[in-house]
Amino acid sequence: MENKKFLAFQIIYLLGLSFMLYLSIAVANEEAVLEPLAETNEEQNNMQTYIVWVKKPVQKYFFSKSHEDLESWYHTFLPTTIASSNQLKKPRMVHAYRNVATGFAAKLTPEEVKAMENKEGFLSAHPEQILPLHTTHSPNFLGLHQGLGVWKGSNYGEGVIIGVLDTGISPDHPSFSDEGVAPPPAKWKGKCDFNGTVCNNKLIGARNFQGGQTTGGPPVDDEGHGTHTSSTAAGNFVKGANVFGMANGTASGMAPYAHLAIYKVCSEEGCAEGDILAALDTAVEDGVDVLSLSLGGASVPFYADGIAIGAFGAIQKGIFVSCSAGNSGPFYASLANEAPWILTVGASTIDRSIKATALLGNGAEYDGESLFQPKDFSSKLLPLVYAGANGKQSSAFCDAGSLGNVEGAIVLCERGGGVARIDKGAEVKRAGGAAMILVNAETDGDSTLADPHVLPATHVGYVAGVKIKAYLNSTSSPAATILFKGTVIGDGLAPKITSFSSRGPSIASTGILKPDIIGPGVSILAAWPVSVDNGTEDETLKPADIFATGAGHVNPSKANDPGLIYDTKPEDYIPYLCGLNYTDEQIQVITQQRVNCSQVEAIPEAQLNYPSFSIIVGSSEDSKSQYYTRTVKNVGPANSTYNLDLFVPRNMGMSVNPEVLKFTEVNQEITFEAEFFAEDSAGKDGVPFAQGYLRWVSDQHSVTSPISVIFASK
Ligand SMILES: *[C@@H]1O[C@H](CO)[C@@H](O)[C@H](O)[C@H]1NC(C)=O
Ligand SMILES: *[C@@H]1O[C@H](CO)[C@@H](O)[C@H](O)[C@H]1NC(C)=O
Ligand SMILES: *[C@@H]1O[C@H](CO)[C@@H](O)[C@H](O)[C@H]1NC(C)=O
Ligand SMILES: *[C@@H]1O[C@H](CO)[C@@H](O)[C@H](O)[C@H]1NC(C)=O
Ligand SMILES: *[C@@H]1O[C@H](CO)[C@@H](O)[C@H](O)[C@H]1NC(C)=O
Ligand SMILES: *[C@@H]1O[C@H](CO)[C@@H](O)[C@H](O)[C@H]1NC(C)=O
Ligand SMILES: *[C@@H]1O[C@H](CO)[C@@H](O)[C@H](O)[C@H]1NC(C)=O
Repeated sequence: MENKKFLAFQIIYLLGLSFMLYLSIAVANEEAVLEPLAETNEEQNNMQTYIVWVKKPVQKYFFSKSHEDLESWYHTFLPTTIASSNQLKKPRMVHAYRNVATGFAAKLTPEEVKAMENKEGFLSAHPEQILPLHTTHSPNFLGLHQGLGVWKGSNYGEGVIIGVLDTGISPDHPSFSDEGVAPPPAKWKGKCDFNGTVCNNKLIGARNFQGGQTTGGPPVDDEGHGTHTSSTAAGNFVKGANVFGMANGTASGMAPYAHLAIYKVCSEEGCAEGDILAALDTAVEDGVDVLSLSLGGASVPFYADGIAIGAFGAIQKGIFVSCSAGNSGPFYASLANEAPWILTVGASTIDRSIKATALLGNGAEYDGESLFQPKDFSSKLLPLVYAGANGKQSSAFCDAGSLGNVEGAIVLCERGGGVARIDKGAEVKRAGGAAMILVNAETDGDSTLADPHVLPATHVGYVAGVKIKAYLNSTSSPAATILFKGTVIGDGLAPKITSFSSRGPSIASTGILKPDIIGPGVSILAAWPVSVDNGTEDETLKPADIFATGAGHVNPSKANDPGLIYDTKPEDYIPYLCGLNYTDEQIQVITQQRVNCSQVEAIPEAQLNYPSFSIIVGSSEDSKSQYYTRTVKNVGPANSTYNLDLFVPRNMGMSVNPEVLKFTEVNQEITFEAEFFAEDSAGKDGVPFAQGYLRWVSDQHSVTSPISVIFASK
């Protein structure tokens, strides 16, 4: 199971790599007015899909646990006028859930929902949320994976089933060939709604959940996003693609030998909450190991959040669920998928870059990005040439075969022209070039990407490109080089704010730090600013801390061998949910079991055994200490000793007890306590956030928990 978790971890940060599908909620019209019962037509117009949560049926009524029994129980909640007519009642029911939730989706009028509230066993209902697609991905990603591929110490995901909820899939893509992929494990019970021959040992399941049980049709991906997420997670090896690092010449997803099960829940118009739940419900029964969702809406409490509820049902069955955090821009508290039982992955583009700076012969520097960060690239100036110097458009775009000999030069290529960014670098390399500066077209503005280029490169914005071209024109011997600076968080002006400004804090649970990790390939857990906050230092992370040797990227075998884990079980969330002050019935919607919070020792949010800390310092509490414990489990060598390395957040005091963790057995657990207190200066400088980390270091492992502090009402 641990391996699966880390596999999921790997897959998921990749999902944030170059695209983001961000969905914001269009909450269904909540202003529906209660009107007297009208004629049938009007009534139908007034109908919308509601998600209805109910209690589990009392066992004595149900001798078997068959789906029919559960469905008939759900039907008892439908209005009697409808229930009496079989013909009318069938279309009302859109989805009946049986695994991850107790409840159903049905077409109802507000009056009918109101009437339902009095029925025994009813818990709650809300209009289905529609999560519209706001894609920001570029269309040319298909066929080119972000190329991590082979990783040591893994079995390439063999035997693991990854369920992807998205826009469907283009099954003919070479990434979904099953060459070298073993048949699915015997537990697999899913279905393929494509033509029989299309599914194979790679693509083992494909279903369409849109619009309930009546529609259907094969889950073809008209939009493109689902094909990308699926191939990034588990695309097979595709020979002849250009990627960097050790997988030279071969592209693949993170888990090339894993199986894929596709659940179509989105179209260009969006993703319906009821369909998402139905897909989660089915995926759990089908036998997936990992669920991946690159969609989500604005914050709602967990008991009214279909994804959070469905995900809880999934983790109860040991399935790992990861979701995108949303690409929310520079706004606080704009995060999707905040539940702590979900791995929330930020696709950071706002305040984090993997920096590669173009340095010109005149001394000017222009910051750009590249995921490929060669360590040994000389800062010696190279001759700079414009790819389009021959006047040909195709050369300006560095199209395949368009360049003449550019031996040893640094070549400036234009973005666009239907040529994938990485392919441009491949052409420069083919023509003998030593490096590439990729410049945006005016329409691209300053939006750059950290790509896994095949040679030293930097991708700069439009304005920088214009200036570099002007320099090219201004001298007879233009020269340039690239300075690789690794991951940089923040813009240097307000480093305390920027590292998590664009996404957190979580609204639904401020005491949990979200997102859990940010892409591409940089997890918050592994990468945190190490600067001291005295304004002189920069907040550059040392590339060596983040990137693996050679690949210039996270070290997969390290992630596969973490040393210590924070092991949280489904039942551990009950005291946490009680601590959120949810009612027993609200918690029951999530857990599907009766919970009595007055018999539970509730915990504050920050006390959940989470691998990070989100501390809130209120004005009344600034002099008080807050204490939280964490329990870590040794999954490394039996005899392991970990020493504390603490980076105390600015304006805070901290202590940790004990400061040494001495393990003598595998799976041994040790609990430590962290004390946090605000100093007098806290919050008085107008900076409402601070950050730091707590790290356990042994001779083989380093386990880092980020700490965020919010100075509330200061
Ligand atoms: C299914 O496969 C058959 C035989 O290859 C083909 O004739 C038919 O068009 C396919 N149908 C669809 C919907 O792809
Ligand atoms: C990639 O493969 C090509 C052809 O096999 C080889 O010439 C090149 O040196 C390789 N590049 C790297 C970075 O290994
Ligand atoms: C550079 O010179 C060329 C030809 O003289 C001209 O077309 C181009 O606009 C110039 N570029 C810039 C950025 O000045
Ligand atoms: C502050 O910055 C200076 C200059 O970089 C450095 O020498 C010093 O150690 C930093 N830290 C503190 C806590 O002053
Ligand atoms: C829950 O209620 C308690 C008691 O009123 C309060 O101290 C606590 O802050 C509340 N928790 C949350 C998450 O609102
Ligand atoms: C919950 O537990 C309390 C304390 O034991 C008890 O008084 C109460 O009746 C219980 N509530 C329910 C709904 O069982
Ligand atoms: C761990 O250390 C103890 C005492 O130092 C020793 O007895 C034991 O054999 C060691 N266990 C392993 C697996 O090395």
